[in-house]
Amino acid sequence: QIPLPPPYRIKVVEPIAFLSPSARRDAIEAAGYNPFNLRSDQITVDLLSDSGTGATSSAQEAAAAQGDESYAGARSWFRFREEAADLTGYPYLLPVHQGRAGERVLFSSLLKPGQICVSNTHFDTTHANVEIAGGTPVDLPVAEAFDLDSTEPFKGNIDLVRLEEALAGPADVGLVLMTITNNGLGAQPVSMANLEAVRALCQRYRVPFFLDAARFAENAWLVQQREPGYQGWSPRQIATRAFQLADGCLISLKKDGLTGIGGLIGLRDDALFAQCEANLIATEGFSTYGGLSGRDLERLAVGLREVVDPLYLSSRAAQTARFARMIKDAGASIVEPAGIHALYLNAGRLLPHLSPSEFPGHSLGCQMYLDGGIRSAELGSLYLGELDESYRVVKPAPFELVRLAIPRRVYTMEHFEYVAAVLGGIAKDPERIRGYRITSAPALLRHFKVRLAPL
Ligand code: F0G
Repeated sequence: QIPLPPPYRIKVVEPIAFLSPSARRDAIEAAGYNPFNLRSDQITVDLLSDSGTGATSSAQEAAAAQGDESYAGARSWFRFREEAADLTGYPYLLPVHQGRAGERVLFSSLLKPGQICVSNTHFDTTHANVEIAGGTPVDLPVAEAFDLDSTEPFKGNIDLVRLEEALAGPADVGLVLMTITNNGLGAQPVSMANLEAVRALCQRYRVPFFLDAARFAENAWLVQQREPGYQGWSPRQIATRAFQLADGCLISLKKDGLTGIGGLIGLRDDALFAQCEANLIATEGFSTYGGLSGRDLERLAVGLREVVDPLYLSSRAAQTARFARMIKDAGASIVEPAGIHALYLNAGRLLPHLSPSEFPGHSLGCQMYLDGGIRSAELGSLYLGELDESYRVVKPAPFELVRLAIPRRVYTMEHFEYVAAVLGGIAKDPERIRGYRITSAPALLRHFKVRLAPL
């Protein structure tokens, strides 16, 4: 069977920059070797995030022209709510400007100080918002997730034995939150069987069960491809079933909403809804816009349909799978098996001459920028390691990874061939790559504001 090309063609394009090697050297030095400080016009291929970076469709832009900007009761809200209700099945929906706003609104209403929030893995803002609400985040991923080479199909699952221990134990569990797909641990999907088991445990112990469903459509696609019993289901049916299993959801719609901005809280409990709504109105906006414009809501209403199209999902998964093969052919290894929204390079394996305190993931990311203008995100000891006051690593992260996030409908195979070629150049002579040391770092959410210098 001949693989199909993407189910869209390009109508509007945006130029990208090709800086000289010396201009790139100057740019990354001026950025304190932190890719978050680079300007987008200093970047050739930007794989920093798949969040808000996707291309919209002509249908979304046509809908946006109909955006109703009324302060209350806008038409666009009702159109969006109808789509979101049909997809998720939740009776109560609240719009927010992005995922982390939903986290803050929900956790401040649901979590009591001292309670724990248990997850397969909290995303970094989710982790921070649990702590801000006075809670303690606890991650319980399955053991397979720690074997980067294992090709087990559902390495995003939660460890059910440890989850039950947590629920039955002395700690007060305020919430169980399943991140689909598991962005913090290699973009691995969560199986429906795992979600059903989590639901049963949460019902038994009377603890609310929520989804952090930023990549609900991609998780559904991987379930259809990998989990026995779901081959006859559409991705949309699988996504709807996942939402049905939980008591509510948080969604950053900057990913599978196929828009630049947006988020959603879905709830079943009316008292919790009333509390969240009051918080939303005080901090995000009235409950029919929640920080979004009518035009955003219109784009989202269309995006929620487009994202579950099997032709779209299969071509996006195929694009990532081809990119993964090219990277491996170029001599680098990734976290297996390849997911959809990102590939995670195993920098620890590519640069064994660098110790965690020399930040091998960061070194690889910087080298990809120096050699090819490629921006990526370190997920290793710079992001997760424990440091002392002089910024020395006292406890390294379990892995030294670099995430190559893949914006939706943005880059062509030629862009990925280019990235793989740049990586191939590094993999041929990795010994030339030096480590880095931190020169300044903030106490919280270090990776966004840290500055470094080459060793
Ligand atoms: N949950 C998950 C699983 C996420 O990946 C993100 C964002 C959020 C919540 C927060 O949503 O950005 O809309 O406030 N992830 C982005 C990323 C930033 O690059 O992975 P947000």
